[in-house]
Amino acid sequence: MRLDHTSDLWWKNAVIYCLDVETFLDSDGDGVGDFQGLIRQIDYLAGLGVTCLWLMPFYPSPNRDDGYDVTDYYGVDPRLGTLGEFVELVRTANDRGIKVIVDLVVNHTSDEHPWFKAARADRSSPFRSWYVWRDEPAEEPRGISFPDKETSNWEREDGSGQYYLHRFYRFQPDLNIANPAVRDEIARIVGFWLQMGVAGFRMDAVPFLLETEGIAEGVEDDPHHFLRDLRAFATRRRGETMLLGEVNTDLKALARFFGDEDGDQLNVQFGFLLNQNLWLSLAREHAEPLEQVIRSLPAAPPDNTWATFLRNHDELSLDKLTESQRKEVFAAFGRRKDMQLYGHGLRRRTAAMLGGDGPRLRMAWSLMLSLPGTPVIFMGDEIGMGENLAIPDRMSVRVPMQWSDSRNGGFSSAPAKELVRPMRAGRFGPKAVNVAAQRRDDDSLLNFLERLIRRRKETPEFGWGSSELIETAAPQLFAHRCEWQGSTVAAVHNLSGRKAHATLDLGVQAGDKVAIDDLLERREHRPNRDGTLEVELAGYGYLWLRIRRGGERAVS
Ligand code: GLC
Repeated sequence: MRLDHTSDLWWKNAVIYCLDVETFLDSDGDGVGDFQGLIRQIDYLAGLGVTCLWLMPFYPSPNRDDGYDVTDYYGVDPRLGTLGEFVELVRTANDRGIKVIVDLVVNHTSDEHPWFKAARADRSSPFRSWYVWRDEPAEEPRGISFPDKETSNWEREDGSGQYYLHRFYRFQPDLNIANPAVRDEIARIVGFWLQMGVAGFRMDAVPFLLETEGIAEGVEDDPHHFLRDLRAFATRRRGETMLLGEVNTDLKALARFFGDEDGDQLNVQFGFLLNQNLWLSLAREHAEPLEQVIRSLPAAPPDNTWATFLRNHDELSLDKLTESQRKEVFAAFGRRKDMQLYGHGLRRRTAAMLGGDGPRLRMAWSLMLSLPGTPVIFMGDEIGMGENLAIPDRMSVRVPMQWSDSRNGGFSSAPAKELVRPMRAGRFGPKAVNVAAQRRDDDSLLNFLERLIRRRKETPEFGWGSSELIETAAPQLFAHRCEWQGSTVAAVHNLSGRKAHATLDLGVQAGDKVAIDDLLERREHRPNRDGTLEVELAGYGYLWLRIRRGGERAVS
């Protein structure tokens, strides 16, 4: 293996950790997490093995959509700190080998952004055409993002009587991507944060950003050219820049977001289809949905990849499954109406859905960390935090971090009623689930994940290699093999609680001299003469193996 290759395209062997500064750690007792708090916990993240932090929006914002409604793209919300402290964070994180990427939310602004205020105040303002206006609401674009709160994508602006486009809440007017001045401004924002030291962006709502339906003037230029230009610009400014896009769209459209030929648009896309089918497989205890989606996904170009995840900060969207598949996932992981959202999602966190720390949860982590792609961890999932259903809609999963069993879970010294979001109590609350206790317990989920992440980073075949499914006769087993530069690893996961046995094709020829290393536990494995391997897995068991050929040296 040429490990030196892994440093250039760093996103192909990264471990990304998503966090909201607001709910991570409050350093000054005002009930709101802040950059100083985060800086204090950098070594915690470094110890876990995180190599890249994704910061959810921290920009000035009226906070009606948790910061995804921005009023100034060039600043830091004063509740969280200052731009100076942001730079200190980047510097400290870099020192610990951690890159920082930031949320780029430019599909829309807040309706309180000065651009929109100017646009709405005066039809002849140059900012008017920064947004999308029509005399009458159009049919297009179709689909409503938040059907519990909105019935249309168009909102009447009283002054002019015209309607503006908003793909999300009505207080989030969409920017007009067809306007060259808007494109220039987005590039300027990207340039600004690159200058502040970030290594890339998590791009919010990319399909909506590129969407031009509804723009009355008609748009000739392919919006994907804009994405390509933006990527080229960002890479010129800073060679290592990664664009990681939120693209939850149909299978047919996905490949275009990497770029038509050589992956010159998004370096990385979140694997939403993969994620939805992963949950279906977990619900069914059957590998087929996951296998089938992996077979159907377009291949990522060589320098690009998928981001894999169990859960993120939004609802667990199951919108690409069929109605009956969705029902299966609801029945397994969120039967109660108050756990469901928008008719297609679950507002729950990983550990709570999988019954808390135990073999099933650990198997799910092992599976996610071994899938082809780059793993993304949502804050608090490394200790198995649960959601707080008392918090409305998607915010139920965005609970404050549980650092200890002390007051407010160690998140803040403020009175409980002043916390940015309430802590949860009970089985998944800080008394039962917290960092301090898990650090001191060798067998905790935190320490388990630390070991697993270490192994994942030492096994670049998973992120870099060409991956192939291994057929077995046991439907509850998901088995795959990844090959990179002559080195092969294989992983097997038992999705069911029942013991399973299988004969694995390791991709070696009969008579080849092979040795097999167990990458996770001290187990001996001897291949059959024909190059296959018999494996037996306990309920929810898993194996990671490295296959050494022709006397290749064992590593560790
Ligand atoms: C994305 C974010 C979500 C936000 C929305 C609008 O889907 O993940 O949290 O509400 O965009 O910006």
